[in-house]
Amino acid sequence: MEQTLSIIKPDAIEKNVIGKILKRFEKNNLKIIAAKMLHLTKDQAQKFYLVHKDKPFYNSLVDFMTSGPILVSVLDGDNAVSKNREIMGATNPENADEGTIRKDFATSIEKNAVHGSDSLDNAKIEISFFFKELEIFSR
Ligand code: CMP
Repeated sequence: MEQTLSIIKPDAIEKNVIGKILKRFEKNNLKIIAAKMLHLTKDQAQKFYLVHKDKPFYNSLVDFMTSGPILVSVLDGDNAVSKNREIMGATNPENADEGTIRKDFATSIEKNAVHGSDSLDNAKIEISFFFKELEIFSR
């Protein structure tokens, strides 16, 4: 079993599709073992995406991620990291496969509806960025 971090981003919250997205995780045998809605501060968004700080889209990404509330969750299951990335689809919705979250709900490469950890090591770092151990309910 693995755990991975998922973020439903401000664009998808605005489109009112939280439930539709969470349902896709459950349909694919991923359990939601922690969840909360929050509004990132600029400082939090800058820290979370620090790895992209030299990219031309960094400031715009931080602005977008602080533009409204997000829903963060921890998903648990077999190969949760890669399974979640499959369910999400390609970063750019134009390249995302049919039936993926980004194909169905993303607006653009930046406003791409969801984030998912890209490795098990990053999943651990990202989960601890948002959740204390006592807020995670493995079952
Ligand atoms: P995410 O999976 O959260 O990881 C980094 C985010 O940066 C990505 O989803 C997009 O929201 C954003 N992003 C990645 N590439 C680009 C790009 N070329 N232009 C604008 N935003 C991007």
